[in-house]
Amino acid sequence: MSVGIDEISFYTSNYYLDLRTLAEVQNTDTEKYYQGIGQEKMSMAAPDEDVVTMAANAALPLIERVGTDSITTLMFATETGIDQSKSAGVYVHRLLNLHENCRVVELKQACYSATASIQMACALVARQPDKKVLVIASDIARYDLDSPGEATQGCGAVAMLIAADPRLVEIDPEVGNYTEDVMDFWRPNYRTNALVDGKYSTKIYLKSLKKAWQHFYEASSLAFNDFSHFCYHLPFSRMAQKAHQTLAKFNKSGLAVEQLEQQIQDTLHYNKTIGNSYTASMYIGLTSLLENCTENLANSRIGFFSYGSGCVAEFFSGRVVAGYEQFLHRDKHQQMLAARQEVSYDEYLDLYRYPDPRDGSENTIEAKTSGRFRLTEISNHKREYAAI
Ligand code: CAA
Repeated sequence: MSVGIDEISFYTSNYYLDLRTLAEVQNTDTEKYYQGIGQEKMSMAAPDEDVVTMAANAALPLIERVGTDSITTLMFATETGIDQSKSAGVYVHRLLNLHENCRVVELKQACYSATASIQMACALVARQPDKKVLVIASDIARYDLDSPGEATQGCGAVAMLIAADPRLVEIDPEVGNYTEDVMDFWRPNYRTNALVDGKYSTKIYLKSLKKAWQHFYEASSLAFNDFSHFCYHLPFSRMAQKAHQTLAKFNKSGLAVEQLEQQIQDTLHYNKTIGNSYTASMYIGLTSLLENCTENLANSRIGFFSYGSGCVAEFFSGRVVAGYEQFLHRDKHQQMLAARQEVSYDEYLDLYRYPDPRDGSENTIEAKTSGRFRLTEISNHKREYAAI
């Protein structure tokens, strides 16, 4: 029996800032962003959106297709937690009308926790193959204004159904892990924005890639040239290009730069215009590959490198299932991205600075999102959500 990803669907906000606008305001060359970091736009969450509403919006198409009966667990991966105690997934459980016997838990380890969720979900499904696990990764990437990280913000959520005999991607059991206590990127509880040692974080990312790959290589019978495509964690697209060149060199692949580019380019389309979505980014990259690659990927091996600052990294592999193309949500995703609204720099600042009430007073939140779920109110220290 194989276990893996049976459904995949993502959501991002309907507002974006073109990095050309940011570059103009900062008097920076646009090509630094478009080419140097490989990003063109970044999604900005509406005032009435958070990780809960984005998660529910990401999962809705999948629930509409498969129903809720077989889902026995919801794992919610995020590093944009809204509560120290209650899982954001419990709100999503209600918004999606999941069964009262469905367990819910939130997982955190920077951008890595969606991968931990998937591995745990695969283990649960292996024990009870008639059950399904809903894994949702949802994040809003925020850095200080005028910091080097500002151009690498974004937001998004991805929902995946983990099941036996999956229709999209079978996940292989062999993994390579690497953990090291480092301070490359972190967000203390009292801060809204992440702190980051940018250059150091890219070095640790590449070091972790080599370490996780080495561990994977010992466990798996697969070698670098057995993979047709690679999905990397995507803080910004250029990071994936650097990572892939590093891994190819490490393995003496003998592939030309263009061949290496071809192995990752289709994973980057969506992220280039959404920006960093932390836990969700690698899986939005997988969606991008499945939905945009012109060759049929059936039976192709995909290598995955998941990285969470701090840091925990994992390399694992999957095989694309024949017929996968019938079960994607391509049109929905592409329509959603095409319908987004560009914001001016001042409107971006308004979204960036939208009040985040913490005093328990009554706060009604204006309706702005085009998603099906919204945050309507924060009053008495309680967040209220509604379906539109
Ligand atoms: N035309 C073309 N390219 C240009 C250019 C121009 N006019 N001007 C500069 N560039 C290139 C630079 O040469 C550089 O390329 P290389 O990296 O290949 O040398 C690239 O653009 C970026 O320029 P800088 O190095 O000067 O950029 P910066 O220092 O201002 O910021 C960054 C880069 C440090 C990564 C910053 O974006 C940042 O701090 N980002 C947040 C942290 C991050 O994403 N880290 C990634 C690893 S950690 C992780 O993955 C977890 C996570 O999700 C955060």
